[in-house]
Amino acid sequence: MLDRVWKSTLGKKFLMAVTGTGLVLFVFVHMMGNLQMFLGPEVINRYAAMLQTSIEFLWPARFGLAIFALVHIGTGITLTWQNRQTRDQRYATRKLVKATLASRTMLWTGSFVALYVVYHLLHFTIGTIDLHLAEMKTPDGHRDVYRMLIWAFQDSRVACGYILAMGVLCFHLSHGIGALFQSLGIKKPGYEPLIYRLARLAALGLLVGFVSVPVAVQLGWLQ
Ligand code: HEM
Repeated sequence: MLDRVWKSTLGKKFLMAVTGTGLVLFVFVHMMGNLQMFLGPEVINRYAAMLQTSIEFLWPARFGLAIFALVHIGTGITLTWQNRQTRDQRYATRKLVKATLASRTMLWTGSFVALYVVYHLLHFTIGTIDLHLAEMKTPDGHRDVYRMLIWAFQDSRVACGYILAMGVLCFHLSHGIGALFQSLGIKKPGYEPLIYRLARLAALGLLVGFVSVPVAVQLGWLQ
């Protein structure tokens, strides 16, 4: 069954959309978690400790997320390669549908996001990039995520790097969120422009939510 889905282009598009939806939901929940920075250290540190100590939730979620990311990347690369193979035929048979810059650069922006996630995990979760972060603990021995983020984003190079990465991620999502509706078959004739406009709005909302933390630290609003 999975073999048949993988072999058909529609099946791969479907897999890409399902995994994309899961990843977008994760990104949204993560952004909401980060916004708790504005509610003070107790609130965000309690939330982080709750996640870290729910082992029965944490590891299945990490495992699921990793599988989704791998399937999403695998289908993305394969579909792009297939599209390039058939491009000449497409030029000959019909006018190319209007492609935006975001849609034409999905492979590049997606690859950048994948590299960013590796860096991000080494930075905050594994703690090998800045050894100070691993030492930051709350009095009850949990990670002091509040202090970790303030410390990290007080360095303007780190803050700018994260802001740039969030820009690329949200550019990727500005096309991706619209495209997943198409691939999942959720489309009504004539509503396509509206769906893409709402997708761009959602991506903009994610961008504002994510960059608000490094920007607020740089401006001294969070300290
Ligand atoms: C300004 C933006 C972001 C900030 C400040 C941020 C912050 C953090 C922090 C502090 C952690 C570690 C939490 C802990 O160990 O308790 C973390 C984990 C993580 N973040 Fe982010 N993050 C950002 C954006 C993103 C984005 C855009 C993605 C995905 C595309 C992402 C993916 C992850 C993943 C996969 C983990 C590991 C979760 C785990 O298994 O423990 N982050 N993030």
